[in-house]
Amino acid sequence: MEIVIKDNADTASRTAANYIAQLIRRKPNAVLGLATGRTPLPLYRELIRMHQEEGLDFSGVTTFNLDEYVGLSPEHPASYNYFMRTNLFDYVNIPEEQVHLPDGLTSDIPAHCSEYEKKIEKAGGIDLQILGIGSDGHIGFNEPMSSLASRTRIKTLTRDTIKDNACFFSSVEEVPRHVITMGIGTILDSRTCLLLAFGENKAEALAGAVEGPLMAALPASSLQLHPVVKVFCDESAACQCRQTDYYRWVYDNKPQWQQFE
Ligand code: F6R
Repeated sequence: MEIVIKDNADTASRTAANYIAQLIRRKPNAVLGLATGRTPLPLYRELIRMHQEEGLDFSGVTTFNLDEYVGLSPEHPASYNYFMRTNLFDYVNIPEEQVHLPDGLTSDIPAHCSEYEKKIEKAGGIDLQILGIGSDGHIGFNEPMSSLASRTRIKTLTRDTIKDNACFFSSVEEVPRHVITMGIGTILDSRTCLLLAFGENKAEALAGAVEGPLMAALPASSLQLHPVVKVFCDESAACQCRQTDYYRWVYDNKPQWQQFE
């Protein structure tokens, strides 16, 4: 796992965007796994800027989102489908047929989930999965105690996650209790995982994920099993990690061919 600590979320997101842009330039038909929420917003803004000002071409890119609320239509302003359109897809040139999100209105959730897994496989697998982290350590919506081998399925959100996400709805009662989410096994199948973490409320979860024991109680710790994980975080999210000096030392001494700034 490589931990890149930057002064703030904007600088960390710019560095992460460079890493993603390198992949897209190297592999124009890259398959990206996408996250929603507050965390990836500065990253998406930077990718849009790179598209508009530097001509970063998304026309060959295929995307699969991590999750969607059960019961919300794509037109619902708090749905992740709406989020993706208004924060990324409307501003870059990914053809619509190459965009995939779980369908919150599907009438057969188990069949839809296994179809989603098949679509990822048919696309050749995910090259790079973008992840945020919940304050309870979830990735995707794999809440604590999720199976480390889980695949795309329905999950019940914890009360804490419902509270964390209530700001996207008019009241906490409106937050759906259920989501469709890629599983931890699905996420670990990606060729690269890119985890973003900003702010002090992520510090405990991030330290546990990076330095703590591997356990279902902290789903993000499953990333320790993955061979290629890049963590881009700010100082406050990193403040509970014990090895920050070493992470900085490694980053400052990266061989030129491994650099992405
Ligand atoms: C969203 C997702 C979640 C979020 C996490 C952090 O697609 O999969 O795991 O990344 O809940 O949310 P924010 O970024 O709003 O703090």
